[in-house]
Formats: sequence, structure tokens, C-alpha cells
Amino acid sequence: MLLRAEAWHPEYLLCWVAWRHRRGRHEDFGKIPMKIAETIEQVRREVAAVRAAGQSVGLVPTMGALHEGHYSLIDAARDQCDFVVVSIFVNPTQFAPGEDLSRYPRTVEADLAGCRERGAGLAFLPAAAEMYHPAAKTTVSVANLPETLCGRSRPGHFAGVCTVVAKLFNIVQPDKAYFGAKDYQQSVIIRRMTADLNIPVEIVVCPTVREADGLAMSSRNANLSPQERSEAAALHGSLQLAADMICNSAQPAGEVIAAMRDYLAEKAPSGQVDYIQIVDSDTLADAATAQVPALVALAVKFSQARLIDNMSIM
Ligand code: PAJ
Repeated sequence: MLLRAEAWHPEYLLCWVAWRHRRGRHEDFGKIPMKIAETIEQVRREVAAVRAAGQSVGLVPTMGALHEGHYSLIDAARDQCDFVVVSIFVNPTQFAPGEDLSRYPRTVEADLAGCRERGAGLAFLPAAAEMYHPAAKTTVSVANLPETLCGRSRPGHFAGVCTVVAKLFNIVQPDKAYFGAKDYQQSVIIRRMTADLNIPVEIVVCPTVREADGLAMSSRNANLSPQERSEAAALHGSLQLAADMICNSAQPAGEVIAAMRDYLAEKAPSGQVDYIQIVDSDTLADAATAQVPALVALAVKFSQARLIDNMSIM
């Protein structure tokens, strides 16, 4: 109860004021009309008007089925930029044949309501034909960095990601673009691409938002069975186990990975480990010795969803 004496401690009060402020802002944002664009031309027109008014532009690229992880990026963009564009596009070129493109969750109405509530100024929902001309011959790919972690089991995936993100950067021309640390390899590759192609956009990477039991929020969590969902908390548990082992002392990476595999075999028997790796956080090269700082990353396949997670151990 707020009436208890400790509830009036300055830290509690500050938290409450911040919460009210944020809540109030969301309520206000709900009243701002958000525009919806389906064509590149509409986006260019809207952004040009914003630019003409001297305002800065933030871009949050997504594939929809939005959750608090995505909304945290919109919040960050709204805090740092005058005008926020959210793209919602399930990009076919980053899915290999046989992957979950057709099963990818689609919740457009709820996504638009969420974007509006969080203060986005423009939602861009292109059809595939708007993004990809039938005669298109150009793809953007970054060398080496995609040859490990997710790229190893999803060949061509990061070329699809880079191509669509480069196109979105050219279409929106944002000052800043927001990505989540949950897709760590993606953020490293996009930073590299942006620097290599001299694209004038600042890449902002925001922390992973988790469910109460530690599971990283993901649109694909909707494709887990109830049993798989309860087991999936073990992904984060295994990363914490690695953190505990590494923080105490440097260890052979193989031993840490073996301990994580044992942990997952016990706690998430429905999952099949795709990879567990301990890598250099910049080059993504495998580390022989697991010691701080380290980036531990994993992917686990359940029946209808492949989940990824990682932890940066400092
Ligand atoms: P999507 O999976 O929809 O994710 C959009 C953005 O949200 C990514 O930057 C991702 O890292 C971030 N995100 C997802 N879950 C998060 C979480 N739990 N906490 C914080 N951020 C989270 O990633 C893609 O789409 C696509 O590859 C895309 C970049 C849009 C290109 O098609």
C-alpha cells in the first residue's frame, strides 16, 4: 500500500512519478493521429513534411506481431527523435524455403493500436510487391559475420535482412534506427553494413525485454505449446548458468557449453539445441576460453518455433 511509510521513500516516489509520466504520455499519444502508409511514395512525402518542419526522424524496423520488446524500441525512438516511423513487414527474403514464413504470426490491428498508443507518427506496411520489384537484381550482404551463430543454420538469412534494412534506410532516411540486443548478430551485421556503405544513420541497440520468468520476448513465442512455453524459460536459465561459471573464473569454452547443454537437456527436453556459442562480441569469432567480457548466444528449436537468446557477460 502506498500509505506505508517506506512507500514514500524518494526512490519509490521517483519511480511512481516516472510511471505516471510515461502512462500519461501514452494516453496523450493515443490522441495523436498516426498515419499509415502502404507505399514508398507516401512514406517519402510524410517524412519530407517532417523534415521540412526541422524535425528528426527515428525508424523502428519490425516484422509485426509486436510485443513489449518492439515497444521498448518505439519508446526509445520517441524519447530521442521528434517523429517515429515503424515499419511492419514480414520480409520474405530473410526466410529460407521450409522456414516459418507462412506460420509467422500476423496481428496487424493490434500492432497499429500499439504503435499509435506508443506515439509512432507513421506506420509503414508495404506489400511484398512494393518492396521488391520483380526485376530487382540487387542484394546487400556482409562478408564473414553471417557465417556463424544463426547465419550458419540460416544461410542467406542475413542477406535478406541487410537488403530489406538497407532499403528501409533509403526509403525513410532516418537520423536514428533502433534494433534489439536480442538479435545480437543482426545488430552487429547491420552496424557493419551501415558503416561500410556510409549510410548516414545512427544505429541504436536497446536491451532485451524479457517475460517474468526470463524468456526473451519474441513474436515466435506465440508458436510454442504450453509445455514448450514453460520449458523455454530454461534458455535464459542456461545463459545465467554460463554467466555464473564465467564470472567466477575463466573456463574452457567447451566446458561451459557442455554445462549449458546438460542444463537444457534437463529443463527443456522438448527443445533441440541448434547452437550454443561463446564468441567475441565484435568479431563474433568463437572464443577458446570463456572469460569476461564474453557474448554467449544460443538457438533452440521447438516443434513450431526456433528461439534465440544471448547474454553479454561483462
Ligand atoms: P523482428 O523480429 O520483428 O524484430 C524487430 C526488432 O525488435 C529487432 O531489432 C529485434 O531485435 C527487436 N526485438 C525483438 N524482440 C525483442 C526483445 N525481446 N527485446 C528487445 N528488442 C527485441 O528483427 C527483425 O524483425 C527483422 O529481421 C527486421 C530487422 C525487421 C528486418 O526484416
